Amino acid sequence: MYILAIETSCDETSAAILYNNKLLSNSVYSHLIHKKYGGVFPEKASREHEVNIIDTVNNALDSANVNIKEINAVSVTYGAGLIGSLLVGVNFAKGISISLDIPLIGVNHLEGHIFANFIENSPQIKFPFVSFLVTGGHTQIWIAKSLGDYELVSDTLDDAAGEAFDKGARILGLEYPGGPEIQKFSKNGDKNKYKFPIPYSKKHPLFFSFSGLKTSLLYKVKDMDDNDFNENINNLAASYQEAIVDTLLDKLKRVLKIHSIKKIYIAGGVAANTRFRKKIDTILNEFNNVDIQFPPIKYCTDNAAMIGLISYYQFLDNRISNLDLIPNPNLSLEKSV
Ligand code: KG4
Ligand code: ZN
Repeated sequence: MYILAIETSCDETSAAILYNNKLLSNSVYSHLIHKKYGGVFPEKASREHEVNIIDTVNNALDSANVNIKEINAVSVTYGAGLIGSLLVGVNFAKGISISLDIPLIGVNHLEGHIFANFIENSPQIKFPFVSFLVTGGHTQIWIAKSLGDYELVSDTLDDAAGEAFDKGARILGLEYPGGPEIQKFSKNGDKNKYKFPIPYSKKHPLFFSFSGLKTSLLYKVKDMDDNDFNENINNLAASYQEAIVDTLLDKLKRVLKIHSIKKIYIAGGVAANTRFRKKIDTILNEFNNVDIQFPPIKYCTDNAAMIGLISYYQFLDNRISNLDLIPNPNLSLEKSV
């Protein structure tokens, strides 16, 4: 079957074409308009989706060499995300479903991120596994028991890791999205120059917290004069990035000490971070027989390819939606279709 997958949950308009679980094309349009605002402006994001969705879908169809009439199912992200952005994708997909008389498959964005690990290697999918979801809005560790059955073992008490990168970048006067910017500035910086806190909560030892880290960067920068700041921006970026990565690794280690599952899949935009991908070796050295995978860099951030892949398995599993599918901005993995 041919699947058209649509993703519009945040600031990327994306469409992909799959033949069963095989990806034929993936078209991603990133809204540059948010760069100057230092974050995503929800109203502008939904307008950008409206303007770009038809071209993005046509690009995906053209690159796959597939005619819209050949499409057998349409899948779309219906949560989590920005309500206005989700609405554009969901309504567009409903229109396609009605006009072509084909099934509509509502997809949980977070489940999509997990499946980004399998886009180039779907025979690998073997449950159970640990899924470490590190996006702009989520920092969670899940045990994936089977398709659609996920148990939460760790969450963030405040900000998500991606948010910490984005807010940190804003404090440093860098562009949105902050993760790639901080990574770029870190390359020429000394990661040991400044010490940032690695939070630990006695009450929630497995849980993350990033808001103190962000505040600590803010105070550090406020204490510096312009010269000092300009001379040390790379060092600030590198030290801040190191603290985020160390926090991620610290909690993952704690989870691995409690749960005996050996297969770990990292997912989400922050999984693109090169320092995180490198420093994961410290876990591999410490824990025997643990296997940790990251998605290919191009599928870490939002894309419709991952939505299309999970939708194929949902279709096989009969997890199909009907036309009263409504976007859910706070959708959790525990509540997939
Ligand atoms: O998964 P994603 O594309 O969107 C959400 O579902 O939230 O994640 C976006 C987040 C942003 O916070 C962005 O700054 C971060 O991922 N990100 C990175 C990198 N690339 C994107 N963070 C650190 N290093 C990167 N290379
Ligand atoms: Zn995402």
